[in-house]
Amino acid sequence: MAETVLLLVIKKIGVALAIGAAHETSALFSKFSTQLIELQGSMGRVVRELRVMHDVLCQMDIRNRNNQVYEGWLDEVQKVAHVMEDMVDEYFYLVGQEHDAGCCFYLNKGFRKPRSLLSLNQIASKVKEIEKDLTHLSETKNRWVPMINNGDTSNSNYIVKRSQDLANISRSLDEEDLVGVDKNTEKLEQWLGGKDGECSVITLYGMGGLGKTVLAANVYRKERENFQCHAWVSISQTYSREDVLMNIIKKIFKNKFEVPSNIAAMDITCLEDTLKRFLEQKKYFIVLDDVWTPEAFDDLSRALLCSHKGSRLLITTRECDVAALASPGHMLTLEALPEDKAWDLFCKKSFPREANNECSEHLKPLSKELVSKCRGLPLAIVSVGSLLRVREKTVEEWRRVNDQLSWEIINNSRLGHIRNILHLSFIYLPTYLKSCFLYCSLFPEDYLFHRKKLVRLWIAEGFINEKSTSTLEEVAEGYLKELVNRNLLQLVLRNSFGRMKRFRMHDIIRELAVDLYKKYHFCVKYEEDECGGFLERDGRKLVVHKLKKDIHQSFSSVHGLRTLIILDRNMPPFNLLPLLSDKSRYITVLELIGLPIEKIPDAIGGLFNLRHLGLRDTKVKLLPKSIEKLSYLLTLDLAGSDIQVVPPGIVKMKNLRHLFAEKLNDQFFRALLSTSGVCITKGLGNLTNLQTLHTLNAQDESLRELGQLRRLRSLRILNVKEIYCKQLCESLVQMPFLSYLVVGASDENEVLLLNILPPNLQKLRLNGRLAEGTLSGDSPLLQAVEKNLHSLSLCWSHLRDDPLPPLSRLNNLTQLRFHRAYNGDKLVFVMGWFPKLKKLYLWDLPTLEKIEIHQGSMKTLETLVLGNLSSMTEVPHGIEFIKPLRHLGFYEITHEFLTLLHRCPGLAGMQWRHTLRVDRS
Ligand SMILES: *[C@@H]1O[C@H](CO)[C@@H](O)[C@H](O)[C@H]1NC(C)=O
Ligand SMILES: *[C@@H]1O[C@H](CO)[C@@H](O)[C@H](O)[C@H]1NC(C)=O
Ligand SMILES: *[C@@H]1O[C@H](CO)[C@@H](O)[C@H](O)[C@H]1NC(C)=O
Ligand SMILES: *[C@@H]1O[C@H](CO)[C@@H](O)[C@H](O)[C@H]1NC(C)=O
Ligand SMILES: *[C@@H]1O[C@H](CO)[C@@H](O)[C@H](O)[C@H]1NC(C)=O
Repeated sequence: MAETVLLLVIKKIGVALAIGAAHETSALFSKFSTQLIELQGSMGRVVRELRVMHDVLCQMDIRNRNNQVYEGWLDEVQKVAHVMEDMVDEYFYLVGQEHDAGCCFYLNKGFRKPRSLLSLNQIASKVKEIEKDLTHLSETKNRWVPMINNGDTSNSNYIVKRSQDLANISRSLDEEDLVGVDKNTEKLEQWLGGKDGECSVITLYGMGGLGKTVLAANVYRKERENFQCHAWVSISQTYSREDVLMNIIKKIFKNKFEVPSNIAAMDITCLEDTLKRFLEQKKYFIVLDDVWTPEAFDDLSRALLCSHKGSRLLITTRECDVAALASPGHMLTLEALPEDKAWDLFCKKSFPREANNECSEHLKPLSKELVSKCRGLPLAIVSVGSLLRVREKTVEEWRRVNDQLSWEIINNSRLGHIRNILHLSFIYLPTYLKSCFLYCSLFPEDYLFHRKKLVRLWIAEGFINEKSTSTLEEVAEGYLKELVNRNLLQLVLRNSFGRMKRFRMHDIIRELAVDLYKKYHFCVKYEEDECGGFLERDGRKLVVHKLKKDIHQSFSSVHGLRTLIILDRNMPPFNLLPLLSDKSRYITVLELIGLPIEKIPDAIGGLFNLRHLGLRDTKVKLLPKSIEKLSYLLTLDLAGSDIQVVPPGIVKMKNLRHLFAEKLNDQFFRALLSTSGVCITKGLGNLTNLQTLHTLNAQDESLRELGQLRRLRSLRILNVKEIYCKQLCESLVQMPFLSYLVVGASDENEVLLLNILPPNLQKLRLNGRLAEGTLSGDSPLLQAVEKNLHSLSLCWSHLRDDPLPPLSRLNNLTQLRFHRAYNGDKLVFVMGWFPKLKKLYLWDLPTLEKIEIHQGSMKTLETLVLGNLSSMTEVPHGIEFIKPLRHLGFYEITHEFLTLLHRCPGLAGMQWRHTLRVDRS
């Protein structure tokens, strides 16, 4: 773990050296050039020493890891590294001031300086001390720390080198791997589909690592559409009944039923009643994942067990007592894989490229030994297999892994058997992945990670290494993929064109990571009733899960805090920001989603080290002018807050990569102006590092500068008028990487005149009338985007001509959405059209009477949703051709239409959902 700390400091010093070199020659610093050169020299020596230490740690044989002297030494190294990090941050602050005209450069003793701010001289002398400490530490190590060595010195840079092989792994792990045996799936499906009218409780029982959750998830995905409503809820060991109920309510109502508006204010009894009353009428399917105590189930059963319509409750658990709650005959016990199945799975993971995944003869004995240590646990087998996949297929290599695994299992009694196996995967991670992995474990159990957001956080934390041709975001996505390949993160969801979207950390793996944190005393876990957060011992990172008491006290002692993420939206408001500005001026990541914060103090401008500021869904209305001083800021997230204007100085944040400032007015995106953005007038073009800009209100001036944002990948622009369009298109085509674009007109009558768009667009939404010919057969716009476009939404376009024939050339579309897009009476889907389409949504087309689907069109369709098609009087013709759909919905229909649906022979045997139109007059 110490290696992750070292790596971060090494990287920071690298940046500092580069900045310093630039300043040595600048006139501003001419008076201080001697000090500066001296400091640069010390920093250079420190970073060299740290690099050597880092490499030594990486090569360290696993067997040194229980050695007390060694660990004590590591502790010291880490302390010194942390002090160095503080000094480097101070240094950044000093050189950063140069840009700030109002503030003087605190180099001379004569100037007044803020309390606790260090001068260049002080930093230089402190770094000298650090240099001495490091030299001393190197000597002590040689003298006192005995090293176990494999006697295998040829393999010196072993673990570091090996990490490069990972570039070669591309195949992602198969969720199905963990499921093991098909007959379990079959049995579950049979129980779920049974004719039994009473609500049955099905339990899925087995130890951790057998793949209970994966099995349940597979079945859930397949079967849920056969129920009127469904929900998946994870019950952690520290669950609260209120949260669980709230969660069930939110999920069960999602998209289909009107959520009771006041649930946030309800007490437990009220929540229970609401849920009970709702579920009584429904055939529902609810999964409670990972229930630890029978009481947890008893608590919930009052609200859940009341339907007589064939509802099902599926519970996964490691506890026998819980499993016994099953309805008679409905308990399924998962067993470890038998020897032959375990062997097959192991070979599949370790030898993916060999014919039939055959294990080479010379590796067989060792392989058998390794497999037997996994005791038939799929999670363990997959972990070990993935580890071996990237190694040389030699006996020496495999023996080494096998020996280390033996050592872990026998000599590391603190971790359980399976965690020892997983521990090995951790040890073999390259340092940069270790940081990323451990970071994820700071989040609560079952936390759902969003790809883009996690990537932004990692970058802000400084975990990501530059690579010449890739952006940091791309490199970070590569890391994510590596963690998924190594089974340390699990992929939960892909988008319609196959990109990874959501992740989770397996609970056992998270426990392992938390164990590691504890073992190396890196963090303090606050007791649950105080603050369910993690805080490293020296107070660098704090993720608050759930807060019952005021943590004011805890914060007041936190000086070196670098990361503060608060996940508890119900945290009572207190003067957090002034406190932080005062006490934690090195803070780098500040994520305060959904907190009831209204005011941002001026002092925030003093948090010079800030790289990520997340104020999404807070009550903030205004940002202070001082925000412009945050010159290192990479992400500013104001989405969903009450901010309508950003300070003009925002254009001084030259490093800004992601800006979210947008308010949602209609969560279903049916209104023309369903979102609103902000204006940035002068200087927008200076934000040349921007990749994400959500949402810009178009204005003459900003449009002219927009074209300078060549790195934009994701842009939403609203309030567009016809007269802006020429300039807009000219700007857009200068953005070679733009892959996501939303363009919204200023009102219903304004025409969007778009004749060309950049060729790499993957997702496009156009809100507003489209000029004549925009989507004609030979439209240059369609030609430009046809290769890469995956997702298209046309809203309020009011097209008079049938858009489908021209759109049908977009062969790569996976999602198509119309909202008030077309004023005609008929849509026909012809054979061969939209071969990759997975989702089709047709909403609010008041004149549409008929839909015809020819056999052989939309062959891969999974979701078809028709909503508020008020003139439609017939069930779409040919709907039977697109079976089997995963999701078919008819929303806001009339009683008459419902009758038609029930009578339609094409729908016989198909599952579908509907809602009736509510007369709003
Ligand atoms: C990836 O594999 C190919 C062939 O299998 C090999 O030539 C290449 O050197 C490998 N790359 C790395 C970084 O190991
Ligand atoms: C466990 O540790 C002891 C003492 O360090 C050592 O003698 C023994 O060989 C180790 N066991 C294994 C399996 O490595
Ligand atoms: C934008 O950059 C230009 C040239 O670098 C500079 O002259 C101008 O002052 C900058 N504008 C703002 C608002 O920072
Ligand atoms: C669809 O995508 C593939 C692969 O990205 C590409 O080769 C093909 O040309 C695209 N189809 C069209 C119609 O452009
Ligand atoms: C549904 O369609 C009707 C026109 O047929 C329209 O008046 C109404 O606003 C639509 N509903 C919504 C929520 O847009």
